[in-house]
Amino acid sequence: MAALPKFSPGRRLVLRCVLWAALWEAGAGQIRYSVPEEIDKGAFVGNIAKDLGWEPLALAERGVRIVSRGRTQLFALNPRSGALVTAGRIDREELCAQSARCAVTFNILLEDKMTIYSVEVEITDINDNSPRFGVEELELKVSETTTPGFRIPLKSAHDVDVGENTLQKYELNSNDHFSLDVRRGADGNRYPELVLERALDREEEAVHHLVLVASDGGNPVRSGTCRIRVKVLDANDNAPVFTQPEYRVSVPENMPLGTRILTVTATDADEGYNAQVSYFREQAPGETADVFELKSTSGDITIMKSLDYEKAKYHEIDIEAQDGPGLLTRTKVIVTVLDVNDNAPEFYMTSATSSVLEDSPPGTIIALFNVHDRDSGQNAFITCSLPEKLPFKLERSVDNYYRLVTTGALDREEFSFYNITLSAKDGGNPSLSTDAHLFLQVADINDNPPIFPRASYSAYVLENNPRGTSIFSVLAHDPDSDDNARVTYSLAEDTLQGAPLSSYISINSDTGVLYALRSFDYEQFQDLQLWVIAVDSGHPPLHSNVSLSLFLMDQNDNIPEILYPAVPTDGSTGVELAPRSAEPGFLVTKVVAVDKDSGQNAWLSYRLLKASEPGLFSVGLHTGEVRTARALLDRDALKQSLVVAVQDHGQPPLSATVTITIAVADSIPEVLADLGSIRNPTNSEDSDLTLYLVVAVAVVSCVFLAFVIVLLALRLRRWHMSHLLQASRDGSRGIHASNFVGVDRMHAFLQTYSHEASLTADSGKSHIIFPQPNYADTLISQESCVKKDYLSAPQSLLDAKGEETPQVMDFSQY
Ligand SMILES: *[C@@H]1O[C@H](CO)[C@@H](O)[C@H](O)[C@H]1NC(C)=O
Ligand SMILES: *[C@@H]1O[C@H](CO)[C@@H](O)[C@H](O)[C@H]1NC(C)=O
Repeated sequence: MAALPKFSPGRRLVLRCVLWAALWEAGAGQIRYSVPEEIDKGAFVGNIAKDLGWEPLALAERGVRIVSRGRTQLFALNPRSGALVTAGRIDREELCAQSARCAVTFNILLEDKMTIYSVEVEITDINDNSPRFGVEELELKVSETTTPGFRIPLKSAHDVDVGENTLQKYELNSNDHFSLDVRRGADGNRYPELVLERALDREEEAVHHLVLVASDGGNPVRSGTCRIRVKVLDANDNAPVFTQPEYRVSVPENMPLGTRILTVTATDADEGYNAQVSYFREQAPGETADVFELKSTSGDITIMKSLDYEKAKYHEIDIEAQDGPGLLTRTKVIVTVLDVNDNAPEFYMTSATSSVLEDSPPGTIIALFNVHDRDSGQNAFITCSLPEKLPFKLERSVDNYYRLVTTGALDREEFSFYNITLSAKDGGNPSLSTDAHLFLQVADINDNPPIFPRASYSAYVLENNPRGTSIFSVLAHDPDSDDNARVTYSLAEDTLQGAPLSSYISINSDTGVLYALRSFDYEQFQDLQLWVIAVDSGHPPLHSNVSLSLFLMDQNDNIPEILYPAVPTDGSTGVELAPRSAEPGFLVTKVVAVDKDSGQNAWLSYRLLKASEPGLFSVGLHTGEVRTARALLDRDALKQSLVVAVQDHGQPPLSATVTITIAVADSIPEVLADLGSIRNPTNSEDSDLTLYLVVAVAVVSCVFLAFVIVLLALRLRRWHMSHLLQASRDGSRGIHASNFVGVDRMHAFLQTYSHEASLTADSGKSHIIFPQPNYADTLISQESCVKKDYLSAPQSLLDAKGEETPQVMDFSQY
């Protein structure tokens, strides 16, 4: 404690009392003073001179001093005034410690008298020390399980002052849990103790801060403090607590494996090991068990097996949290699986037909099917569609059932089958779709007749064909199928020249190949009209027909036939007369021949093959007229013999010969007279007579015949003229030359004499007579005309009709 430089009024009073005490003591031989500790150096303690009755001025001369035994002098003496003052600061606690009374004694020596005086100075205590604790801060550890009433001794405080100035009381700051109790020990000291008033809870307050104050009784009061930290030790009195009573999480089903979906957290209010929480699954058997994994340290829940909304929409996981010593809590995690559009729609064909008749009416049901999507909500909202431009539509029924029906007529001949693609699309994003293929056959009905590719056919066949030759074939096509397209062929019933057509021609009912049942003869008929009927095998059958014109083509199969002069049947030959007076060019006779063929094959030419007198007669190449080539002379033999050959122009040509005997004479008697020379000298008399008779009869006959012929020719001419006029009136221009393909043999013969040519239409309905100024050329003109027309006819016919080249069967093949 610092010295007091000035005394307060109270203090002066104390000093006066002390002084008075000192005076009172001097009488007894000892001078006593009292001085408070910690007073300033040089502070006045007492006046020795005055108290001993000395002259203060004489003190120095008398040699007065303080005698000490080697100790530090606490006081000093002023020899002039005799005042005793402090030599330094005095600490009572240092001098006397805890003693209740503290006094310093020393002697004062008066040298002149060698007198010793005893002086005692009592040093009084002032409150210059505070109570002091050994430590400033005290840490206590108390388990939270400690029961109230528990006492904890505390460190006590010390105050070196004495009396009232020393430690008087302890005080504890106010708090909820602790109180202070102070006990007095046997030595009279006070010992503070902390008493637990209320149970502790570490979780509520882990550390309690207390302040213990020790105070003395001085004036002013001094105090010392000690901070007490009461640490509450943990006990495992808390179980872990989950942050949520129940966890809910929604996870899309396509979440990848290993994804953490949730972390459960449990906290434990305790600490350390008591708060070390681990997580465990309450193993419930079932699917969920291996779908999720729980990390026991972190509480992370991850996906271990892929989720499938379609299998399980919810998963429940029971989880326990356990702290170190084993207290546990449970919670539940509910995982809601969210649907993802991971399933495409599926088709379920309830019933379907694989074939439909082509005449099915619109609205015919083809199929009934169901579409289903295993997803849910919008992801399972399905729309079905068909490709456009198909004669089908979809009709929606209940519960995603659809009917596929026809919308229009079907035609197997156009589309024989349909591969219908049904598309189902769900409403997800992105949406998934599925295609189904429905194969539908269109069943045939017999709605198409067989069809011939052409409106009519023409065929050309050489005559003399072998029997059984195939001459033509037709083919009809039926667009239907199977039986409805199986075509059989037949010929329409007809007759030809009184005989049924079927005796001439037959048709292979399967192939349509036509066969000739006979060898045809152009000279019998030139053409044939038939109808080929094609019928399919449907129910009912449908048929169609086509006309076929069969034209025969001529072959050179007839030898020219010599009509005149007739070949004698009895070995004799006719004799022609040539008057000796005849001029050159005189028509002696005419060889008349016909050829049954036509055209080139019937075009005849005449040649003089042999003559008994060469150069006397000539034969018209085309007329067959035998004329004199020069004037007849007397030396010319009466009987001339000619061999004339008639040849057609066929390939190869055919020919015939005739021998003509000409008698050169002016009259028949002359002829007869000459006959003997004509006849072969080797002949008998008998035969000569016969010859004469025959010649006579022949001549008569000839004259008669000539008369009759001339008469007939005149009649025919008149009749022909009237027809010619009528024909030209009927439009003879329309008659095609090709119609005139034949030569009426009777006419040909007559024409030789009538000098007319008659061309007749083969139909026989119309005749045209061409007056011939050159009467000798009848047959030739007619035949060249026929030839030309015949060759050009088919081509012009084709040009007019626009058809293909006519089909001619080649017989060499058969
Ligand atoms: C139908 O068409 C689909 C594809 O266009 C094809 O895969 C399927 O084989 C077809 N079905 C039939 C029977 O031809
Ligand atoms: C050919 O068909 C037509 C019409 O289809 C028919 O009028 C005619 O009678 C048929 N002719 C024959 C010969 O069947």
